[in-house]
Amino acid sequence: MRNILITGGAGFIGSHVVRLFVNKYPDYHIVNLDKLTYAGNLANLKDIETRPNYTFVRADIADLDEMRRVIREYEIDGIIHLAAESHVDRSIKDPFTFARTNVMGTLALLQAAKEYWESLPERYEGKRFYHISTDEVYGALELTHPEGVDAPFSTKASSGQKHEAYGELFFTEETKYNPHSPYSASKASSDHFVRAYHDTYGMPTIVTNCSNNYGPYQFPEKLIPLFINNIRHRKPLPVYGKGENVRDWLYVEDHARAIDTIFHEGRVADTYNIGGFNEWKNIDIIRVIIRTVDRLLGNPEGYSDELITFVTDRLGHDMRYAIDSRKLQRELGWEPSLQFEEGIEKTVRWYLDNQEWMDNITSGDYERYYEEMYKGR
Ligand code: NAD
Ligand code: TYD
Repeated sequence: MRNILITGGAGFIGSHVVRLFVNKYPDYHIVNLDKLTYAGNLANLKDIETRPNYTFVRADIADLDEMRRVIREYEIDGIIHLAAESHVDRSIKDPFTFARTNVMGTLALLQAAKEYWESLPERYEGKRFYHISTDEVYGALELTHPEGVDAPFSTKASSGQKHEAYGELFFTEETKYNPHSPYSASKASSDHFVRAYHDTYGMPTIVTNCSNNYGPYQFPEKLIPLFINNIRHRKPLPVYGKGENVRDWLYVEDHARAIDTIFHEGRVADTYNIGGFNEWKNIDIIRVIIRTVDRLLGNPEGYSDELITFVTDRLGHDMRYAIDSRKLQRELGWEPSLQFEEGIEKTVRWYLDNQEWMDNITSGDYERYYEEMYKGR
């Protein structure tokens, strides 16, 4: 496989996947296709943008003719599809944009790939359409274990258990889809279209569902970078509800490594859950972030605690996500490489050391830069 199209490569996770592939596979031509919405930022890829095996194309995945053109022009034989609208709060305000990009965009990409691959003598041989999805499609788990043990209780040992009165303790690959937010509903819909293209046309597809990611280059509307930046500027930290919701956090480079493994070794038409068995209540993770930022900035312990501000809860706020990723570990040998303490330390340090990156975003400079660069195109 030589020509790989990565969509959404200017975003958070996509930029880590592009970097990994460009560095690790000098024989592959990596085409990064991204619309550069508010969430896309080419500064995320400064270190690899001049590599000979890398090309950037600005395009909208919902533009079917453009997808046909790009896939044909670059003779694409593998697609790793990350482009999406990704923020739950935005989806609550504007569900239509999510349906357009996540559902219609994925469909346009599938259709364009189908037409091109079916026109080749070898058809689908050696081809792959890998769709990156989220654990949020499975809905929400309960907070309290039936025996009264509060989450986080995610360990490999307790995973895979079920309880009659309680249902599932973790999301597995067999968990039924039950999305609640417009974001997760749009991702669920796109997952169904991907599987339908396998079942109907025989396209070699793979879907993975990953838990919350954290790490460098995440847009500062998401919890961790937003709070690091707000602490630095002594701005309030808006905690939704009581801060009791639980998320399962994975370091972004571990996700990128999993994507690499699954792209090359995953079974066609299969699904893999990706997660690090690392559940945290929001309020607990917020306290870790405050402690780490204060320590690295040389503030006294507890200095930024007063910034915590409980605000009205998110509409339909899912209580708990927890991924059982043992199938991926068992079948393909992937394991997360970083302990959470190490990952969060690296992450906080990165945001504090890269204040220019953050300031460019929060001042809107980078969007103006693209407007200028692409004027008239
Ligand atoms: P992100 O919002 O940081 O990046 C999304 C990228 O897609 C941006 O570069 C944006 O410009 C691009 N994009 C948006 N609409 C587009 C369009 N119409 N055409 C072309 N490009 C477009 O998102 P992320 O957090 O990096 O997530 C990437 C993927 O991983 C998404 O599919 C998301 O659902 C999935 N995912 C994310 C997480 C997480 O914790 N962030 C967890 C599991 C799965
Ligand atoms: P987020 O980073 O938006 O990811 P997701 O909604 O996809 O899980 O939010 C993570 C958790 O943090 C989620 O339970 C909502 C909560 N949250 C806050 O309490 N305050 C905030 O300002 C944000 C952005 C999120």
